[in-house]
Amino acid sequence: MYNIAVIPGDGIGKEVMDACINVLKALNIDFNFTYGEAGDECLEKNGAALPDETVELAKNADACLFGAAGETAADVIVRLRQELNLFANLRSVKSYPNTNALFDNLDFMIVRENTEGMYIAKEEEYTEEGAIVRRIITKKASKRIINYAFQYAKNNNKSKVTGVHKANVLKITDGLFKETFYEVAEEYKNEIEAEDYYVDATAMYLITRPETFEVIVTTNLFGDILSDEGAGLVGGLGMIPSGNIGEDGALFEPVHGSAPDIEGQGIANPMAMILSATMMLNYLEEYEAEEKLNNAILSVLNEGKTLTPDLGGNATTTEVAQAIIDALN
Ligand code: NAI
Ligand code: MG
Repeated sequence: MYNIAVIPGDGIGKEVMDACINVLKALNIDFNFTYGEAGDECLEKNGAALPDETVELAKNADACLFGAAGETAADVIVRLRQELNLFANLRSVKSYPNTNALFDNLDFMIVRENTEGMYIAKEEEYTEEGAIVRRIITKKASKRIINYAFQYAKNNNKSKVTGVHKANVLKITDGLFKETFYEVAEEYKNEIEAEDYYVDATAMYLITRPETFEVIVTTNLFGDILSDEGAGLVGGLGMIPSGNIGEDGALFEPVHGSAPDIEGQGIANPMAMILSATMMLNYLEEYEAEEKLNNAILSVLNEGKTLTPDLGGNATTTEVAQAIIDALN
């Protein structure tokens, strides 16, 4: 049995989570779902956007599903990532039919370091001369994320990992990242090919030949930017899932927010949430169920009859979930 912490949050977070849980229940896996509160409504009700009980629930779970929060998103999700020590951010870049994907043949994973780099935001006060930010790259965190990327490649039959950096300019910090990349690559040299590119070149290759990537591993800021570029390659926010992985816990969430403009209308696209659940199945090594669910999602998209308005259809959130459940059976 898997203990899954379910944190729907606000707005369409709740709507897409309902759809997702119904789909997961149709998989015949022994899940024990326990719900936790977080977000704007929770703040209003309990005086905290992320109550300690919710943190405990997430810490004790085998994996955690998060919908979306509103204005308190940073207080909720950034803190959850810290509390659970989720060092890897995973963004899957995959083309699906009948979406707004610019390419129809993409299937790669961006693995982003999530605990250091520029985004620990060690900024120094602005003075007359300007301001300074520290960018920290450690051997330990680099090794951990690069190892994760190679292990992910191995577990998912990928044949290549691309290390992305800017070691020609940031010779010491990114020099360390690049050196560590090839140290780890050496351990996998019989199974997985390794290559490295500068981040600016990678940004271009993602447009000119994105189908050549399988797994990309990079530091925090570069990963953030390349992830959104990847999202742009495969269509709108309603289709983009993500994962946050730690040493003993993981959290899966759609990239989108609580979408107040469509909240309560029942038309939010649940695909990003459900695709996040497929990433959870991968994390739990339930590869058969992952494939089954992916195929069901594919068949609904291929058929193109049950799509939410963001994909040009007129189906509701519930109808899309039901179509996926029907396709599973
Ligand atoms: P958003 O992602 O909520 O919405 C942006 C646009 O995309 C809106 O037009 C929305 O209708 C559409 N959209 C998003 N998800 C969709 C879906 N599943 N199906 C169909 N259409 C979808 O971002 P926005 O508007 O910048 O932020 C709204 C609120 O969400 C803010 O309070 C913000 O703080 C919060 N937010 C939370 C995040 C999180 O919990 N991880 C991430 C981003 C924003
Ligand atoms: Mg971002």
